[in-house]
Amino acid sequence: MADKQAKLELGGQTYEFPVLEGSTGPDVVDIRKLYGSTGAFTFDPGYKSTASCESALTYIDGQEGVLLHRGYPIGQLAEHSSFMETAYLLLNGELPSQQEYEDFNYTITRHTMLHDQLNTFYQGFRRDAHPMAIMCGVVGALSAFYHDSTDISDPEHRKISSHRLIAKMPTIAAMAYKYSVGQPFMQPKNDLSYTGNFLRMTFGVPAEEYEVIPAVEKAMDRIFILHADHEQNASTSTVRLAGSSGANPFACIAAGIACLWGPAHGGANEAALNMLREIGTPDRIPHYIERAKDKNDPFRLMGFGHRVYKNYDPRATVMQSTVREVFEALNVKDPVFETALQLEEIALNDPYFKEKKLFPNVDFYSGIILSAIGFPTTMFTALFALARTVGWVAQWNEMISDPAQVIGRPRQLYTGPVERDYVPLSER
Ligand code: ACO
Repeated sequence: MADKQAKLELGGQTYEFPVLEGSTGPDVVDIRKLYGSTGAFTFDPGYKSTASCESALTYIDGQEGVLLHRGYPIGQLAEHSSFMETAYLLLNGELPSQQEYEDFNYTITRHTMLHDQLNTFYQGFRRDAHPMAIMCGVVGALSAFYHDSTDISDPEHRKISSHRLIAKMPTIAAMAYKYSVGQPFMQPKNDLSYTGNFLRMTFGVPAEEYEVIPAVEKAMDRIFILHADHEQNASTSTVRLAGSSGANPFACIAAGIACLWGPAHGGANEAALNMLREIGTPDRIPHYIERAKDKNDPFRLMGFGHRVYKNYDPRATVMQSTVREVFEALNVKDPVFETALQLEEIALNDPYFKEKKLFPNVDFYSGIILSAIGFPTTMFTALFALARTVGWVAQWNEMISDPAQVIGRPRQLYTGPVERDYVPLSER
């Protein structure tokens, strides 16, 4: 019995509901018995006030701009950890020992190759297909290739499919890129790091050795860390909902990729850089700020605003400093960065953005880095999907391992016609 109770008055009666406390963050009113006891549903489109599950993976305090993975602040992970270590942490709950880290790296490295038949699968796509279209298709198709790890009731199967997904995602994303530019696919190379291997598979060619630039490898790895998980966002909730029916993990992750593609979610990194390039020079910023504020104009400042953060997105802070590091390492200058910095400053001092608490999010600066590294904008969301796969599989595993897990099945407020008799066509 929970100590705290919430009271609801409805139809002249008072009902009591337990209030549950997490380890930190807002309490939740447990309304699981609401319908059974009152006959009423709650109404919360977009889940603005609804906790859809219990989770011990990631914590966000949107007011304070805090993001923790298994308790560790994202800034510390971005500075000191690696993507593989963060992946291990998210999957297993604790940071690995040296031996555990090496074993995990070994396992992931040995799963990076794709079934050879999948190479042929790519040929079915048009060369100008968006990489996210290819990712949705190929990741969904993995279920047809790896039957031996789709029994979701078996923890060992779940572990193997999780490792496969994390390991193969860079190969799949790099192949999507290679296919679009008409270059031969590059096979993984086991003496490289997860991220170094991805860079080589993307930018290397069989005709010559590819040298991984350590500063770029580090920046890319950090970008992966920053995208690894973000509690119950739209794509993660999609993965959970798909998985709640017992669907296999490859199908669930393909569903997550589809959701991530949208410009209000993962697609915003592509949209943000396109927007910055369209703005072009700082003198044009005021015009775009006015457009973003105009209710009759659908234009939004991409890379700004967040459902949860009503403060600076802590990932954007790390991204901003990473831009400088990458520019320095590659000796590049891109005027778009100056435009971004000025746009941020102008927006943060504008009453509209202040009042609505709209701050730069992770997508605002990431595109500038990715573009400097050499990725076309169409690849940006695919890179997000690659990194978020870790969060998706960790969340999916957490859900399936929970004995209380049931199929997700929201209800509705019905506003359509009430029952009426069918009218034959001749009488209409
Ligand atoms: N530019 C201009 N106005 C904005 C912006 C923006 N980027 N974001 C929100 N607003 C305004 C809305 O018009 C709304 O105004 P109103 O109260 O007068 O109607 C108010 O701020 C609240 O916005 P909502 O859309 O209701 O907030 P919600 O939490 O539903 O949306 C979202 C969050 C979708 C991220 C939104 O801020 C947005 O569209 N941002 C641009 C896209 C983007 O960067 N997405 C990436 C999110 S991070 C991620 O997925 C990794």
